[in-house]
Amino acid sequence: MSIIYNNINNTFTLQTKHSSYQLKIVDLGYVLHTYYGNTIYGDDMSYLIQMANRCFSGNPYECSLDRCFSLDTLPQEYSCFGTGDYRIHSIQTINQDGSYASDLRYSSHKIYAGKYHLEGLPSMYADKDTAADTLELTLKDKSTGLTVVLYYGVFEDLDIITRAAKIVNNSNAPIKLTKASSLCIDFNEMNMDMITFYGRHAMERLMQRTPIHHGIQSVGSLRGTSSHHYNPFVIFCDHAATEESGNCYGFSLLYSGNFLAAAEADQINNTRFVMGINPDQFCFQLNAQECFFTPEVALSYSSEGLGALSQNFHKAYRNNLCRGKYKKARRPVLINNWEATFFDFTGDQLVNIAKDAAELGIELFVMDDGWFGDRNDDFRGLGDWVVNEEKLQGSLKELVDKINALGMKFGIWVEPEMVNENSDLYRKHPDWALQIPGRLPNLSRHQLVLDFSRKEVRDYIYDSICKVLESAPIEYVKWDMNRNLADVWSAALPTDRQGEVFHRYVLGLYEVLEKITNRFPDILFEGCSGGGGRFDAGMLYYFPQSWCSDDTDAIERLEIQYGTSYGYPVSSVGSHVSVSPNQQTGRETSLDTRGTVAMSGTFGYELDISKMTPEEKEIVKQQIKHFKKYYFLIQDGSYYRISNPGENNDYAAWQFVSQDRSSSLVNIVTLHARANAPFMHIKLKGLDPEKQYRINESKETYSGAALIYGGYPVPYEKLTNDYQSLQLCLSEA
Ligand code: DGJ
Repeated sequence: MSIIYNNINNTFTLQTKHSSYQLKIVDLGYVLHTYYGNTIYGDDMSYLIQMANRCFSGNPYECSLDRCFSLDTLPQEYSCFGTGDYRIHSIQTINQDGSYASDLRYSSHKIYAGKYHLEGLPSMYADKDTAADTLELTLKDKSTGLTVVLYYGVFEDLDIITRAAKIVNNSNAPIKLTKASSLCIDFNEMNMDMITFYGRHAMERLMQRTPIHHGIQSVGSLRGTSSHHYNPFVIFCDHAATEESGNCYGFSLLYSGNFLAAAEADQINNTRFVMGINPDQFCFQLNAQECFFTPEVALSYSSEGLGALSQNFHKAYRNNLCRGKYKKARRPVLINNWEATFFDFTGDQLVNIAKDAAELGIELFVMDDGWFGDRNDDFRGLGDWVVNEEKLQGSLKELVDKINALGMKFGIWVEPEMVNENSDLYRKHPDWALQIPGRLPNLSRHQLVLDFSRKEVRDYIYDSICKVLESAPIEYVKWDMNRNLADVWSAALPTDRQGEVFHRYVLGLYEVLEKITNRFPDILFEGCSGGGGRFDAGMLYYFPQSWCSDDTDAIERLEIQYGTSYGYPVSSVGSHVSVSPNQQTGRETSLDTRGTVAMSGTFGYELDISKMTPEEKEIVKQQIKHFKKYYFLIQDGSYYRISNPGENNDYAAWQFVSQDRSSSLVNIVTLHARANAPFMHIKLKGLDPEKQYRINESKETYSGAALIYGGYPVPYEKLTNDYQSLQLCLSEA
């Protein structure tokens, strides 16, 4: 059992392989957070908590003689609003009497083997290979009947702890929830950096590292999705933490809608971090006896730097968050027609692309946007999920049969959450789109968002998408979402419950995804939102991969994939080789370099193969062979960042090492060639110091120790120009 309750000092210690997390029930039933960090062996860590009389930090009534006991300075496990803790709070309610305050105290607890489950929300799961234990801690507010059950899931072997909360209205009148966070954690210091991931469309998840400072610092989204702009993944670490050393804490929210991740360094230099649903435009009514589940947060700690922290999340998400056949099975190398044709294609053209692709060893053909309704540009058609047989020159089944006859699987693009005004669906049901009566809606890519909080909308979409997927042997689906939510108002909810729509939208989406992925367990699903606009751990529960970015320029991708690697495994990163010069940036890169970069993802092509020379086609053939050979090393191996392409102007390098450390793949891409360049030494990582390795089948062998501590001198003549690449394949000698 990884959860230890000590009934003498009232501590709960959650133990993973390399970390401990502790909370303690103290006088009056308050639950304090005492520790999270490197393993401690059952010690009561509350000795770390110091108390002093601080003016303007009041005291609970029952201990008002003790002016040192203040909720405003003590580390809380789930901080309340309005009862004397003035720092960022975890929960806020509007109670029956109109007050906003809550006062949660310990009521009971349960510890059991197995992982709790959150109905209707994504969450990590235990299985036969990976055990988990659960602590449920019930807190109550005596005067309002508010009950909060704090859930803790402990994945000992994965070094992961999950948290979520169930909020119950145990009174006989409605209350309103205006904030319901998933996580609150206090640190007794502020000497740390906060790392967040920001970006924009076509440049997602760039890393930003800043020292924690007094006041509140936060990232979040109010776009209805997790967004291109800020990712729901945050790291705290020592100022000096590197890839290999230092204390690091990762916090990853399993949620795909509006979120807020906020840190506050307080008056006595403690830091509080709160993460969960964004409280802006959130107001959820809980009627008597109703309950509300917050999304889950996965936490991990490493004393061995950012590299090990990322690997914890990679392993956990690959094995205990992603589900379905393609969690383990090799995913097919694909070709997607989007950047080759955009909307301008016919059935015959698609078959021709597929023919060329099949000859090179590509295994899956994906038909992107433009195959349905009147969709010949992005002004129309969304919502009408009816095959355009004129354009495809036959039925979908006939097209798929032709592709299958080439020995290829067939995949299709959909964007089910959207509707164009110019569509039969909108003409029939204008109220199914989110918009505010009397106000002209904000348009984005000429489309509106369907109100997924409504059952009839979800049912219609579910049925129409199922109809398409059943009409032909479809083996892959790209589920796209090309705008953010605005004018959020649902015709199905009363005026005073409009603050629920954003969250109900996400719950509605999750319901549809759960049903569709269960109904088609053999289909490989890829998430997408104009590239990586909804690249979050919540979506990974339904779809094991997500299109990482609409920017397919190999050099830009280095930074995007670098940032993404902090919180997400390579197996989730949709990445394709596209044409050079690149359509977005005009940059020219070799096919080798484009292949090297795209291989550090799910791998595919997105260009017109018929325009390739025979030499280029031969390179593609070899790339696919090479990728298949190293597939499991790349997808299941440990991932090491060797250099940061945002900081190192000369080259980018990263490495995969197999779990048994018998093989490794090192990737290097030059960013800036220099005349009379300095020599380049790359220090490899993760190898077994005692093993001998051959590099690219060299005669000589090198010990792991030599390659780690001495490094590998990159042959001078190999990388002399901008954007060249080199892959080193290491095998145990
Ligand atoms: C945005 C996606 O990211 C692209 O890959 C493509 O599928 C387009 N949408 C199609 O409209």
